[in-house]
Amino acid sequence: MTSRELLATELTRARDRTLRLVDFDDAEVRRQYDPLMSPLVWDLAHIGQQEELWLLRGGDPDRRGLLSPQVDQLYDAFVHSRASRVDLPLLPPADARAYCATVRGRALDALDALPDGHPDAFTFAMVVSHENQHDETMLQALSLRRGAPLLDRGAALPGGREGVAGTSVLVPGGEFVLGVDAETEPFSLDNERPAHVVDVPAFRIGRVPVTSGEWRAFIADGGYREPRWWSPAGWEHRQRAGLTAPLFWNAETGTRTRFGHVEDIPDDEPVQHVTFFEAQAYAAWAGARLPTEAEWEKACAWDPQTRTRRRYPWGSADPGPALANLGGDALRPAPVGAYPEGASAYGVEQMMGDVWEWTTSPLRPWPGFTPMVYERYSVPFFDGAGSGDYRVLRGGSWAVAPSILRPSFRNWDHPVRRQIFSGVRLAWDADEPLARRATDDEPLARRATDDEPLGRRATGDV
Ligand SMILES: [Fe+2]
Repeated sequence: MTSRELLATELTRARDRTLRLVDFDDAEVRRQYDPLMSPLVWDLAHIGQQEELWLLRGGDPDRRGLLSPQVDQLYDAFVHSRASRVDLPLLPPADARAYCATVRGRALDALDALPDGHPDAFTFAMVVSHENQHDETMLQALSLRRGAPLLDRGAALPGGREGVAGTSVLVPGGEFVLGVDAETEPFSLDNERPAHVVDVPAFRIGRVPVTSGEWRAFIADGGYREPRWWSPAGWEHRQRAGLTAPLFWNAETGTRTRFGHVEDIPDDEPVQHVTFFEAQAYAAWAGARLPTEAEWEKACAWDPQTRTRRRYPWGSADPGPALANLGGDALRPAPVGAYPEGASAYGVEQMMGDVWEWTTSPLRPWPGFTPMVYERYSVPFFDGAGSGDYRVLRGGSWAVAPSILRPSFRNWDHPVRRQIFSGVRLAWDADEPLARRATDDEPLARRATDDEPLGRRATGDV
């Protein structure tokens, strides 16, 4: 497949998904489910407006498009906060659909006319990524919707494996290549570039993400009541927001609400909908910490045998149903151990898909960073740029389209956000004693070996 054919396929695939996520009556699509999210109809027209801006208007907002300038600016994400969008004179759903369809027709014509190898292919890929990222945002909105379910429970997933929760692997110290270049990943976004060598001291990292069962043990042990596990900012937020469990957990009944379905919380599923602050507190309680971005990416992509990066943790094959839970159809993470074939060279599993994994790293440019055509994609969010405090999340969630995810892909959000499909993977300094107990009167435990359970295991009875 040429890159032109690939881009056309991915544009169509993204649009099919977008339209499924707004396939509801007008009142539903116009509703705002939560002040954190836009009404679905805003996302829909914004997808079209950005596609038009980048593919048909040369990225120049002053160049007249299909919409009047007054309507066009309604879809500028930097002008209107999410909370305010419901009150804007937005395009009605039918008009938004028609606008998106017209733009798409012209964009496909422009793609057809693009010579092979033309640099604008990147801009098409950026638009594919943008639409898919908004599809995930719309799923966040739908997960916050109250009332009877609109979506079913999601597609079937492979079963998990016993004995992997709470285990870790050692990643020996040494240099690796962090980030990617346009030559190897032509559709990588600006903040993933350039590739550069970094030296990462030895560390251990969770073989799989932290599970809901393990999280229950944290709650039962008073994790949300004891400030000692929390950073000062995290504790302040915990108190102010009244956090006592992950978002959507119903404490009294031990159930959760997922897209309107009330169901038991599966012990072996990666915990999701936790803030950075909760992730940090859990890690402290478990005698661990969160990984840095460099640690995470090394564990995911580096092959110590060949001393090269893999395209995906498992190798060069495109993501598929035996390798990772991606694409959004499952509407939930897969149980831990579900994807042994998807393991990285170090044996770390489920790094692509399932849940976004919080890292300790603020969003910073890699050395030699150059902004892409959409300059405001990364730059306003870099640490110190003034737009707020962000932490990077890695690895994608079940809601991410496989075609836009790479081990180098960087996502970021405020440390208090948890409507996102966020979870936790633990890390340890390699010279740290493992399984440090949560109470002061217990001896420090033994050093771990590969596959040894770390910290507290889920007991399932809490
Ligand atoms: Fe956007």
